[in-house]
Amino acid sequence: MRDVGIESLNVYMPMYSLSLAELAKARGVDPQKYRLGLGLEAMAIAPPCEDAVTLAANAAAPLFERGLVERDEIALLLVATESAVDHAKPVSIFVHELLRAHPACRTYELKHACYGGTAALMTATQWIASGASRGRKALVIATDIARYDIGSAGEPTQGAGAVAMVVSDVPQQIAIDFRRSGSFAEGVFDFWRPLDRREALVDGQYSVDCYLRALDGAYQDFERAGRNGDLKSPLPITDRFGVFLYHVPFPKMAWKAHRRLLEIDWRLRDEEEPPEECFAQGSFENSVSPYLAACRAVGNSYTASLYFCLATLLESHGERLRGEQAALFSYGSGCCAEFFNGVVGPGAGVETGVQRLLAQRRPISVAEYEAMRTGAEDDKSAPPDGFQGRFHYAGTERDRRRYLPVSG
Ligand code: COA
Repeated sequence: MRDVGIESLNVYMPMYSLSLAELAKARGVDPQKYRLGLGLEAMAIAPPCEDAVTLAANAAAPLFERGLVERDEIALLLVATESAVDHAKPVSIFVHELLRAHPACRTYELKHACYGGTAALMTATQWIASGASRGRKALVIATDIARYDIGSAGEPTQGAGAVAMVVSDVPQQIAIDFRRSGSFAEGVFDFWRPLDRREALVDGQYSVDCYLRALDGAYQDFERAGRNGDLKSPLPITDRFGVFLYHVPFPKMAWKAHRRLLEIDWRLRDEEEPPEECFAQGSFENSVSPYLAACRAVGNSYTASLYFCLATLLESHGERLRGEQAALFSYGSGCCAEFFNGVVGPGAGVETGVQRLLAQRRPISVAEYEAMRTGAEDDKSAPPDGFQGRFHYAGTERDRRRYLPVSG
């Protein structure tokens, strides 16, 4: 069996950024709460002409333009989102049309809060590994806009973005070990969005507890899968993986998760003295923090957030990390979680769009952000100057959403 995983990857983020120091000032909150308490510097704000469809298509289009994949190679197009634009017509078929993908292509949308991107990635890797792909490739896109009520505790943890990944048996970026992964599922109301609402509802502190409990469950399942039911690894987890990537609703969550993971591993190994890493920042600073750079500036992009960490790793640290073992943890409220692993590929170290798009963003004021958030959803205006995408949302006509290429 050949290796399977991500052959190429490209990100997209909206053009506006809102400084969290500015937001803190406007809300009468100590800015250090957002900077140190949540680990955030800014969040991406989508202009009214962007939605989950345009973010997805704008992330994927450069993969074709740069010749990294051909249209007729893609026979599976999966789009993961919790920001759907229609109850029946999936985001994936809008994206299929905009990308002019081949008609001989299975395509659908996946939803399980922030876990959907990983569900899609695992489906795609197993489709390739099974042989059903017959040498063709999958395009997996995670795309979302995180919205909480203005003035709510969740407001500083918004954001938006998309990550497009070509999955094949030439895993130049990262090979995914699809045989060994650990899952955890439990019906909880930690975060949800009723059908008539644009903004999510959340029991914030409870969602942090649910995330950490799911990490415990998924990691135990992962360990069981790796050693035929034996939970006691001969080596501490920090000796087995040099990189840890987490779902990042806000960067401080990755710190909480990493500390908890080391504690769980120590408990499972039944060692008398906890390893120093359980108490020290060292492991976090070396193996987690460098890959949080995009999330600190983009905020929460739900399904895409774990893959923004991967994109940061591949672009800014990829060359140094080729051959490195990486542990990944994906959490989706509600909840379902998965702990899995991969090996950084020989092609890591190429541009994924993170640095370029961050540098091109335009800062907006709190007043501009609030006007965008409270404005009508149906936007027939042209995309603003400086718009980086290839496609924009052009409003609804006779109940049909319209998307147009950006002219010029
Ligand atoms: N300086 C430095 N740190 C400060 C501070 C200050 N002036 N004021 C508060 N903090 C710290 C707190 O000690 C806390 O740190 P800790 O978690 O390590 O204890 C952190 O900032 C957050 O403060 P808290 O009072 O817990 O924030 P909150 O009640 O406003 O809610 C969330 C935080 C994340 C729960 C909220 O933003 C939310 O609901 N987000 C959406 C849901 C989500 O992202 N869930 C994650 C799991 S999926």
